[in-house]
Amino acid sequence: MEIKNVAVLGSGTMGHGIAQASAMAGYNVKLYDIAQAMLDKATGTIKGNIEKHFVAKGKIKPEEGAAIVGRIAATTNLKSAVEDADLVIEAIPENMEMKKIVFAEIDGFCPAHTILASNTSVLPVTAIAGATNRKEKCIGLHFFNPAVVMKLVEVIKPIGVADETVDAALAFCKKLGKTPVTVKDVPGFIVNRLLGLLYHEAAQIVLEGTATAEEVDLAMKLGAGHPMGPCELADFGGFDIITNAGDAVYNYTHNARDAVNILYRKMVEAGRLGRKNGKGFYDYNSDGTKTVAKLFD
Ligand code: 3HC
Repeated sequence: MEIKNVAVLGSGTMGHGIAQASAMAGYNVKLYDIAQAMLDKATGTIKGNIEKHFVAKGKIKPEEGAAIVGRIAATTNLKSAVEDADLVIEAIPENMEMKKIVFAEIDGFCPAHTILASNTSVLPVTAIAGATNRKEKCIGLHFFNPAVVMKLVEVIKPIGVADETVDAALAFCKKLGKTPVTVKDVPGFIVNRLLGLLYHEAAQIVLEGTATAEEVDLAMKLGAGHPMGPCELADFGGFDIITNAGDAVYNYTHNARDAVNILYRKMVEAGRLGRKNGKGFYDYNSDGTKTVAKLFD
């Protein structure tokens, strides 16, 4: 089946990034959220990113940038967002009950051929698909932040998914210029299963005073070739997200290996959420610089 129209549900960091990546690949996109203010913020961010990273650098012409923005229609009406979609990508918060409600609802609004994908980073896609009457058309499409830049999409295969759904999802990812990797529906899939361990150990090193966050980051950038060190990456992702995601994996596996490091819980309790509020392993200053934060000292 050919995908032409894409609906993205949720206009947060991942949702608006996926919407932008889809529009840049030529798809008509409807971007849904519950409040107009969220959509206004998201479309403002998309316009700013296209200008900063593509038009200003001469990678695309201004009119191409305008055409990409023009392919994204924002709406607070769920039915109109999905009723003509060939592919829906859900990127709402990581709450299983919320996701099941949304999937059951859109199952009733979408045409029979529509593929329903979740961008969940940790929750079982099989359980989300179970809220619909089209399990064979449900799949996981897990993008990475920033979605426009990162080349990987994990294509999660829940139990019961049809081969043609997987094939259509793989073709969609490739049209976005991404490299898809298929994964079974296991907690954390590949990347977050591994990143969870990295986040844990990075926090443990800081907590026990073996090295500072800056030294941990420097070590992993220079010694292991990571583009961001684990503390910078944790700040980038957000401690609330890391804690929720880690708990979701742990609740499924009950493996001590997957337990969230206490430092992340303490930082969330202290209102330090990472880059999003300027307070994480680092304090982010208004002039764009950052300094290592005093945490448990
Ligand atoms: N949109 C488009 N392009 C962007 C962009 C954006 N939002 N952000 C950065 N870029 C482009 C820049 O324009 C630049 O392009 P150029 O090389 O052609 O000039 C290039 O990316 C590099 O950007 P910068 O020079 O500004 O900064 P960096 O070199 O530090 O790169 C980064 C930024 C791409 C974010 C890089 O630091 C990186 O790859 N970090 C790791 C990110 C990562 O690991 N993400 C995964 C997190 S886990 C996750 O997502 C799981 C999920 O479940 C949430």
